Amino acid sequence: MDHNYEKAVERILCSEEQIKKRVAEIAREIENYYGASDKKLLLLGILKGSVVFMADLMKAVRLPMEVEFMRLSSYGKSAVSSGEIVIKAGLEKKDLADYNVLIVEDILDTGNTLFWLVDYLKREHNAKDIKICTLLDKPDRREKPISVDFGCFTIPDEFVIGYGLDFNELYRDLPYVGILKREYYE
Ligand code: XMP
Ligand code: MG
Repeated sequence: MDHNYEKAVERILCSEEQIKKRVAEIAREIENYYGASDKKLLLLGILKGSVVFMADLMKAVRLPMEVEFMRLSSYGKSAVSSGEIVIKAGLEKKDLADYNVLIVEDILDTGNTLFWLVDYLKREHNAKDIKICTLLDKPDRREKPISVDFGCFTIPDEFVIGYGLDFNELYRDLPYVGILKREYYE
């Protein structure tokens, strides 16, 4: 056991308190946006990174909703996504035409993953209304024309861990978002 697990953190970017406050604020934005809609609301969490954010967000949004999860992965190195996405676990529902789909993801980085997913949901699942909710947005690295509709924090181009985000599958359990020390991956 590593008893100094958190030494990997260079600096905390989003504290537990800040995250709690922002999740409550975007929950109100989501309620205002979807509250008057006749369509059903589906929160679609992308595993594994969204799991902590999804759990907090779904409790905070006081609207009737269904939840689904997909697991996606992209070819290439873990820190950089390519445009080639593989579905590791797909959707149970086939037709999404009757839903307002809100994708819930940990971070929008290059945009390759979600750009592909939005097109896939329209093409294969007949989705008509898709919006994107992320905990983090790293706009400096964007490669695709895609943006966040409901976002908590815009962050600089640093590799971050915690609150669902991992480095080699560790640190997802940290209750805050922190910058990973460079010596861990350089
Ligand atoms: P793209 O580039 O497709 O990225 O927008 C999507 C996925 O890349 C991962 N990612 C990160 N994971 N710290 C992480 O732990 C980071 O700083 C980071 N940047 C991107 C993440 O899995 C995201 O879903
Ligand atoms: Mg992810």
